[in-house]
Amino acid sequence: MKPFIVVCDGMDKSVFETLQSVQEFDVHPERKLTQDQIQELLPKASALVIRSSTEVKDKYLELAPELKYVIRAGAGTDNIDKVACGKKDVKVSNTPGANNNSAAEHAIALMLTVLRKTAFANATMKSGGWDKSKYTGTELANKKVGIVGFGQIGKIVAKRLQGFEPEILFYDPFCESTDIPNCTKANSVDEIFETCDIITIHTPLMDETRNMVNKDLLSKMKPTAILVNAARGGIVDEEALYETLKEEKIRGAGFDVFATEPLPEDSNLRSLPSLVLTPHLGASTEEAQLRVGQMAVDQLKEFFLNDNLLNEVKA
Ligand code: 3PG
Repeated sequence: MKPFIVVCDGMDKSVFETLQSVQEFDVHPERKLTQDQIQELLPKASALVIRSSTEVKDKYLELAPELKYVIRAGAGTDNIDKVACGKKDVKVSNTPGANNNSAAEHAIALMLTVLRKTAFANATMKSGGWDKSKYTGTELANKKVGIVGFGQIGKIVAKRLQGFEPEILFYDPFCESTDIPNCTKANSVDEIFETCDIITIHTPLMDETRNMVNKDLLSKMKPTAILVNAARGGIVDEEALYETLKEEKIRGAGFDVFATEPLPEDSNLRSLPSLVLTPHLGASTEEAQLRVGQMAVDQLKEFFLNDNLLNEVKA
């Protein structure tokens, strides 16, 4: 029987069309399926291809007795219960690196948006205003940038920022030094929060990083500093962030990721005038989606046609 692949979340259509044309695969053609649609397809699914909005946990695994493979078309696999998958011998992989550049660019876009207040200025322009003096901003050039988490994305941020001639301080327990110019390791995360003008988070969400940026750490930030998170929701304690911004203890923040996604309609974060919000757009570029889709397709072919598991992610 041909493997039945369910592409659950919105992805580049063209790459999956190429898979559809391979005789061995039967790809469900819909894009961004609803929960109900996914659940209807689960009983015959051999593989699921997901982004961050589909959770593969006990419930889905129980509904999918034929499931052999879950591909996270992207990096973070915190939406997959890898222990439960292991127990059912369902393999998991991701597409490492494919959306790194887009994520890094989005973090820098958020920095500039917060510093120059462009999102707020745009909103007033659209409603008929011209509030020039209200939107005086701050330059990015020559600022001290703190990068928490210096893996592939953190390093790309440091490289892409070079044109702004920053002083960069990074912290990562797994990285001691780097050749990237103007970049030195901080002694601790605290040092970054105490001394930097712009702080950007690039760690994965794990037990060690959940709510790592808490009230205490936020209280160490300079009043002129800004915080950016385009990594993962749950790393920054959102209640503490709300209080910090509400009391104007820091200049502002730019957030792309949230503990609960979609961000609830009544979230108090939506009311903060110094907080720029985007709906988990870090990997949402044409280029990244082409790359993650192509890698997912290649991995599906390798797995089902050549019995070769690429980019496995274990529990
Ligand atoms: C990732 O982990 O790959 C990024 O956060 C992007 O997530 P997305 O594919 O759901 O946009």
